[in-house]
Amino acid sequence: MSELAVRAEEVRKTYRSRRTPPVEALAGVSLTVPRGERVALLGRNGAGKTTFLRIAATLLRPSGGRVEVMGHDVDTEPDLVRPQIAVVPQEGRPFFHLTPREQAYAYLRARGFDGPTARRRADEALGQMGLTEVADRLSITLSGGQRQRTMVATVIATEAPLLFLDEPTIGMDPFARREVWRSFRELTRRGSTILLTTHYLDEAEALSQRLYIIDRGRVISHGTSEELKRQVGGTLRITIPGGHRLAADLAAFGTCVPDGGALTLITEPARLSEVLAIAVREKLTATVGPVTLEEAFLQAVGHSIDEES
Ligand SMILES: Nc1ncnc2c1ncn2[C@@H]1O[C@H](COP(=O)(O)OP(=O)(O)OP(=O)(O)O)[C@@H](O)[C@H]1O
Ligand SMILES: [Mg+2]
Repeated sequence: MSELAVRAEEVRKTYRSRRTPPVEALAGVSLTVPRGERVALLGRNGAGKTTFLRIAATLLRPSGGRVEVMGHDVDTEPDLVRPQIAVVPQEGRPFFHLTPREQAYAYLRARGFDGPTARRRADEALGQMGLTEVADRLSITLSGGQRQRTMVATVIATEAPLLFLDEPTIGMDPFARREVWRSFRELTRRGSTILLTTHYLDEAEALSQRLYIIDRGRVISHGTSEELKRQVGGTLRITIPGGHRLAADLAAFGTCVPDGGALTLITEPARLSEVLAIAVREKLTATVGPVTLEEAFLQAVGHSIDEES
């Protein structure tokens, strides 16, 4: 049995239509997802994340390259892949004329679970997603976050070996997101594998053991969040509101990242007092904290944009 849940080699996808020029969405993506791990794909809008997930989930055929999921080629053996995966699509919606309980139950029955198992798993998953009170209301009457939770509950109830989750927590409040994180951790503890996308970098950091940053259809960086943060060139982030004009003075102390009218400097703790002295001299305040995945992401993608232009 392959140790990898997903092995992608040089995956390419060009969308073609008669009326518009072709769109190269993936230009050779290689990545691996070890079994039992939670892996996140990060990237700007249009980077190619959903395209990749759809190919790996057998919903779209690649233009080139190869993806193996649970040891099977998605293009030539999709029927062996499908029973092992479950997908929360981006912007998926529950059936409006079903209740969350009916939807989760029906989905499990369609996937071959017997009635009592489907009922038990549906109830459990709805409970985990905090939906017990609304589980018997038509989905059309649910709030946006409750609908999204219904989608996640339906899919996690399958306990499929591999879950593809495209922005699973979009629109959820901070408490609900943490409940989702907890249930994802529980799923991988029990042996499932999770490949997700998210634009919430705190979520990516809290949840995933490995990250891939995709930009314009290519992997531009990957590693643990600690590894990605180390590539930024410092461990400390100093933000000086109104400090954009100090960029030239502070460039010698580390990496300056303009941030609206503010200036964010990535540097090492040893340089802190000198930098604060400059801010104070200019009658500016500063906030200091550890470098976050957000800085690592902005810098990696920023470099990629610079190289392109
Ligand atoms: N059916 C399609 N036909 C033509 N172009 C498409 C199609 N689907 C996606 N694209 C284009 O392919 C590129 C990648 O899109 P994709 O949906 O994979 O990005 P994404 O990383 O998921 O973005 P987001 O963060 O906004 O969800 C974009 O330029 C998009 O406009
Ligand atoms: Mg997407």
